[in-house]
Amino acid sequence: MYEYTKEQLDSLKKVEETRAARLQQDLKRMTADEKEAVLKAFHPDYIESAYEELKVGPNKGEKVLHELATLLQGRSRVLDMKIDLNKIDYDVDVLIIGGGGAGASAAIEADKAGAKAMIVTKLRLGDANTAMAEGGIQAADKPNDSPAIHYLDALGGGHFANKPELLYKLVNDAPIAIKWLNDLGVMFDKEPDGTMITTHGGGTSRKRMHACKDYSGSEIMRVLRDEVYNRGITVVDFTSAIELIKDTDGKVAGAVLMNMETKEILVARAKTVVIATGGAGRLHYQGFPTSNHYGATADGLILAYRAGAKLMYPETLQYHPTGAACPTQIYGALVTEKVRSLGAQLVNKDGVAFVNPLETRDVTASTIIRECKQNKKGIATTDGEGVWLDTPMIELRGGEGTIEKRIPAMMRMFGKYGIDIRKEPILVYPTLHYQNGGIDISANGMAGIENLFVAGEAVGGIHGKNRLMGNSLLDIIVFGRNAGQNAAAKSKSVKVKKLTLSFVKEYDKELKEAGINAKELSPRILPDYRRKDN
Ligand code: FUM
Repeated sequence: MYEYTKEQLDSLKKVEETRAARLQQDLKRMTADEKEAVLKAFHPDYIESAYEELKVGPNKGEKVLHELATLLQGRSRVLDMKIDLNKIDYDVDVLIIGGGGAGASAAIEADKAGAKAMIVTKLRLGDANTAMAEGGIQAADKPNDSPAIHYLDALGGGHFANKPELLYKLVNDAPIAIKWLNDLGVMFDKEPDGTMITTHGGGTSRKRMHACKDYSGSEIMRVLRDEVYNRGITVVDFTSAIELIKDTDGKVAGAVLMNMETKEILVARAKTVVIATGGAGRLHYQGFPTSNHYGATADGLILAYRAGAKLMYPETLQYHPTGAACPTQIYGALVTEKVRSLGAQLVNKDGVAFVNPLETRDVTASTIIRECKQNKKGIATTDGEGVWLDTPMIELRGGEGTIEKRIPAMMRMFGKYGIDIRKEPILVYPTLHYQNGGIDISANGMAGIENLFVAGEAVGGIHGKNRLMGNSLLDIIVFGRNAGQNAAAKSKSVKVKKLTLSFVKEYDKELKEAGINAKELSPRILPDYRRKDN
């Protein structure tokens, strides 16, 4: 059971004392200038010392975080191996790397189009950020809303940097994505008459967040996984892709795979490849904890970059404002934005609400960091500090039972430690949640290299420089399906030539010429949490 410190108990009293007044308080939204100022001063993306210039590859000269630079300019695992590319272990039309929502959606559509599809995943099908998504999925499918309004919200949230054709596709295909999921059997929250229940997220001007309580991602993944298995699609699990393979025409033509248990090396030849490897939270950029899945180590970015694909906005990360700040056992775990959509305020140690709960994520996270680091109004925890998220306000606003009905996962997560979020606020601090940037693609899902498609969090540009809540579960469906359909169609006309890994040697030569003696093996595949002090 969690035991509060004296400081926490004193602060808790103030939160309780100010609650009634805060319930009446109309927290004003920040102006554009105020937002820009707080971002520049406090958002981790603006900490110059955390970045370095890439010395090789398609983004040479651009800055990325040190942790990513080390892997992008790391040593390919295949350099130290003897691999017989004439010995083909798997021969498919569409090879999908990654077993999350984007990979599963791509596989379903490729299979539907008649292609021989195969998913390879380093853990198990469904072990992915998708299954950890809580709050919901956006789609403008109510009479007071439209894809155009959705577009404007996401464009503003993304700092007007979203790649227009990708954002256009995202918002226009959103209602189709919801219908597709609903038809497959996803149990969305609905009114008794069948109308979908929708709520706001940070930065949305309409209530368009569709949810399955606060288990949205897990419910979506459940259904997608069933569909993959029901269709009989081949899934090779506990097997990671450690390098792409090209053919002698320079087109992507498969991947080198490694069995995670036996370390056996396998060759997969494919007419087209879909990278759906997800995010990078487990690289713990700038020392942040993460809400991400254990396998989120940016593998797809590394493979694609070494093969010559350009990255878009790899320097922009999303620090979700409300990661659990304590107890230690759940440090960094996601506390869904839906908690704020339902009426909880962010409150400092004096019981003062300091930001409108539905500012966009980057702005909200920055105000929390400001409150703690500059204003010294944070509350100390075992792992650092945090501010209060005043969850009892939800029941006062929405009526008794709202928390249990709408966010049962949150109630359960804190309940395990004796914290009843219906009665007590919780401590939160930003946690590394999402990779806004990724591999640059066209609207058909293809990267700059022929026959390489990308979907999901590994894509860059859809969300500009800051994603809105609920647009990620959406993009994995829209761009996962898109990649599956287009990769399947493309595979019909592809004739794979002789396989080669010569581009890996060329990249290694470039590294050496740039004075980089790469030691760290990349991709990393899994995080290393072993103690380094003995
Ligand atoms: O806060 C959340 O529930 C997260 C949602 C998202 O990242 O889209």
